[in-house]
This record gives sequence, structure tokens and C-alpha cells, in this order.
Amino acid sequence: MLSVKDSLLERTSVRRYEREAIPAETMELIYRAVENTPTSYNGQQFSVIDIDDQELKLKLYELTNQKQIKTCNRLLIFCSDYNKISLLARKKGLVMPPFTNTMDGVTIGIIDASLAMMSAVVAAQSAGLGSNCIGYLRTVDPAAVAKLLNLPKGVFVVCGLALGIPREHPDLKPKQPLSLVFHHNSYRHDDEKMVSELEEYDNVVKHYNQTRSGHTTDNDWVAHILDYYDHAMSYRILDYLKDQGYDINR
Ligand SMILES: Cc1cc2nc3c(=O)[nH]c(=O)nc-3n(C[C@H](O)[C@H](O)[C@H](O)COP(=O)(O)O)c2cc1C
Repeated sequence: MLSVKDSLLERTSVRRYEREAIPAETMELIYRAVENTPTSYNGQQFSVIDIDDQELKLKLYELTNQKQIKTCNRLLIFCSDYNKISLLARKKGLVMPPFTNTMDGVTIGIIDASLAMMSAVVAAQSAGLGSNCIGYLRTVDPAAVAKLLNLPKGVFVVCGLALGIPREHPDLKPKQPLSLVFHHNSYRHDDEKMVSELEEYDNVVKHYNQTRSGHTTDNDWVAHILDYYDHAMSYRILDYLKDQGYDINR
């Protein structure tokens, strides 16, 4: 087992895996770590679909074109979930708060599912596994994914997580310097200095992309990210949420 420090500081996304199965005790650790995730008011507004069915993985790969989905040993799909609590509320004759009509409700479910995914990422890393979050499972064809996973109303996909024994060890990606991540007591407003630190970071990313092991590119940080999100902002997630029984009006 890696230390918590090494698990956190040496983690990279791993997209190529060996064929071997993940040992049962490692999955048990991941399950326990996910189970003990901090959640809003301990409401545990999330569920995880654990997929080892190769045919299902292939169907999900065909929808998303993310190769790691078909080669990973396990695919965990983290969902925001108000179905469970509504089942018990109905049984006990309790009135449901407007979880599925408010941004508050949507946000809570997304935070809980995301933290649960991060618990799994760290547990997997500590046990020597490779992992890769897969947002395409939420974005490219959410209705088809919901159908394949048989998701009830009140449940929607937040993110997938591919897991497997690593077959690659990618270089650590440079991240923003701590001076841009952490603000002391209040948000810093020295825009000129921030811009110069951001420019420096942009160059660090470009240099990394030009020199990293494996596939190299000339991508900087800012233009590349903006270019990606230029088309990745049109997935119509609101329509998906409507299909899943959400009607957000406040
Ligand atoms: C919410 C989320 C969605 C992501 N979706 C994908 C994805 O669909 N495909 C992929 O290859 N990587 C995906 N990633 C991985 C990121 O590209 C990766 O974390 C980022 O480039 C930083 O690299 P690192 O994880 O090696 O530090 C996703 C990560 C997050 C947090």
C-alpha cells in the first residue's frame, strides 16, 4: 500500500491497463472508502454502478469513444441519487423537499457523487491501481447511458471512473502554482501579477506537452482548454436532467 502522501502526490490519470482482474480485497477497500465519503448532511445523495460486464462496457465505449472503458477491469459510474431517499420517504408518508427542482438539490448530489469518486481514486491509487475519470459518460449521450444503466428518475450520471492494474506510468502533469490556487484569507486582486503567473504556467504546460513521454503536442493551457470547452458546453445537460425527472426552476 502506498502512503496517503504518495497516493495523493504521485497520482496521474492512467488510461492503459493490464488484463488481470483487480483483487477482491482491493475492490473491498474501494467500496469501503466510497461508503465512508463525507456527504451533505450525511444524506449520501449518490450511488455507484460497478460494471464488469464486458458487453456493457463495449456499448458504453461505442457511445463515448473512450478506449479505457473497454480495457479497464472495472468501470464505476458515480451518480447523483435522490431515488433512494424518495423510496423511503414515500413508504413513511413523508414529503420530499424540492431536491429535483432546485439548483441546491442538483449541486448537493453532484458534490456527494464527486467526493465519493475522489475517495475511490485515492483508495485505488494507494492499492497500486490506475484510474481515469470519464466525464464523457455524462456528456456525449446521457439518455443512451441512462437507458443502458437502467437509471430511475432522480438519478443521473455525474462521472465514470475506469480502474485497472496500470500498464503505463504517465508523467505528472504540471498544475497551477499554489500561489494561484490558494488565496490568503480573501481572494487576491492583483490582476497583473496573476496574469504574469498564469502566463508562466501557460508556458510550463506548453513545454510539458512538447517534451512529455508518449504523445507530444504544442498545446498551451489556456487556448487548448478554451477550445475544448467551446464545443463541450453544448451537451444540453438541462434536457438530460429533465429526462431524469428534474425540473429546475430555482
Ligand atoms: C470530472 C472529470 C472528467 C474527466 N473526463 C475525462 C474523460 O472523459 N476522458 C479522459 O481521458 N480523461 C478525463 N478526465 C481526466 C482529466 O483529463 C485529467 O484528470 C487531467 O488532464 C489532469 O491529468 P492528471 O489526472 O493526470 O493529473 C476527467 C477528469 C475529471 C476530474
